[in-house]
Amino acid sequence: MSDRLIIFDTTLRDGEQSPGISLDVAEKLEIAEQLARLGVDYIEAGFPVASQGDFDAVQAIARSVEGPVIAGLSRTHRSDVDRCWAAVSPAERARIHVFISTSPNHMEHMLKMTREQVLAETRAGVARAREHTDDVEFSPQDATRTPLDFMMEVLQAAVDAGATTLNIPDTVGYGIPWDFGALIQYVRREIKGDFITSTHCHNDLGLATANSLAGVQAGARQVEVCVNGLGERAGNAALEEVVMAVKIRADQFPGLEVGVRTEELARTSRLVSRLTGYPVQYNKAVVGRNAFAHESGIHQHGVLADASTYEIIDADSVGQRGRQIVLGKHSGRHAFGDTLTKMGLHVQGDALNAAFVRFKELADRKVQLTEADLEAIVAEEIGGVGADPAFAFESLEVTGGTVGVPRARVVLTRDGEKAEATAEGDGMIDAACKAIKAATGVDGTLTDFNVSSVTGGVDALGDVVIQLEAGGVKVSGRGVSTDVVEASARAFLNATNKVVRARARHEVRDPVTEVTP
Ligand code: KIV
Ligand code: ZN
Repeated sequence: MSDRLIIFDTTLRDGEQSPGISLDVAEKLEIAEQLARLGVDYIEAGFPVASQGDFDAVQAIARSVEGPVIAGLSRTHRSDVDRCWAAVSPAERARIHVFISTSPNHMEHMLKMTREQVLAETRAGVARAREHTDDVEFSPQDATRTPLDFMMEVLQAAVDAGATTLNIPDTVGYGIPWDFGALIQYVRREIKGDFITSTHCHNDLGLATANSLAGVQAGARQVEVCVNGLGERAGNAALEEVVMAVKIRADQFPGLEVGVRTEELARTSRLVSRLTGYPVQYNKAVVGRNAFAHESGIHQHGVLADASTYEIIDADSVGQRGRQIVLGKHSGRHAFGDTLTKMGLHVQGDALNAAFVRFKELADRKVQLTEADLEAIVAEEIGGVGADPAFAFESLEVTGGTVGVPRARVVLTRDGEKAEATAEGDGMIDAACKAIKAATGVDGTLTDFNVSSVTGGVDALGDVVIQLEAGGVKVSGRGVSTDVVEASARAFLNATNKVVRARARHEVRDPVTEVTP
């Protein structure tokens, strides 16, 4: 029988809890589809009871994403478990992940429950979940700060009530690899029953990947991970790091199989980065833009002679060569659509038309575009074109700057109607955003602004990612252009369209009643 390491991706649940990230249903679906292409075993799609938006996203993913098992997170209350099941049950295979805090700290300050109450909640929550499905995961939150005897009692109660996976969360990133490994070994040895042991490691001490691997070495056969190491605070164990460590150091994990198609890692990382607005650090292992770059003459000389001199991972095997030139200004619609399909980007209808128009505009200015450029264009256009009519630029003129008052004039169209406005600002970007606000009537506050280049070189596309908050809705927006003012205006309009869409679909989160794990 094969010995498989189950990759449980929680980018859309724990990753989405990263400060400032707020994905809408369409964005979550896009990420889930890419995770399926990547070949993860489980997608934890969200926490359905948290808000209507979370519920809708989990349900949409369960309805349409094929391949991975779809999991939802749930507290132990019967109504939470039932709501979770309502969201995940349309999936071909679904899991309920039940959790409750077990550390004295959380029990005192958050739950205000005794040990007996926590035990009773565990039994009830898991048993209720088992009435819906035979795939039930249980997590004692803050396990690494929980007295061992109590954690074991709770875990045994969970297995007796029907849990099939026992996840050991290092919720606050307190674990040290050898200690965490020993904990996993102890759980496997002492808890009676048939279950898989899982790790869920946070990165507060920069040890999330190391702790997860220590858990695997001790017999854990599920790892909970996030693309780009996203997650609460310093994040979770990075999917790409754990997967590549197990593959590259197979000598340390003999016979262990991982189902992930590693050639999709870089693309998945870029997609998640764009949609969440979280940049990937340049020197990030596996997926960072410098992960295969060599600076010193000696290193360059070695790599030119043979890549293995300084590289332990084949760049192709993780999709890191996808920056080559693919299309130019003479490429037609057919070649454009074809290239997107080959890249695994399934764009159709209005989004494809809009993306092609943008491609032509940019190809005229930049001459040649890489895969990364095309991904950026498509990401921007998909974000702006939804089921509801979106605002689109007809024209944007920005004048002034170092000399003279910065002034912007914008003409937008929406559903055949024109909306135009002129505004002055502190700078050219500010003027453009104010004009967009006046034309759309959406008065948002910019809470974050990030500029980077899609690829290197002087003709690189500027990639602007912003976070916008408007009346309780938090969204990200992105825009690409060879001109940074234009990219910023595009990002602002992209975010504004998301606010309009969220309002139309009542996807507005209520920060007061919202529950998070
Ligand atoms: O970090 C944590 O404890 C969690 C649980 C809900 C599994 O995310
Ligand atoms: Zn977590």
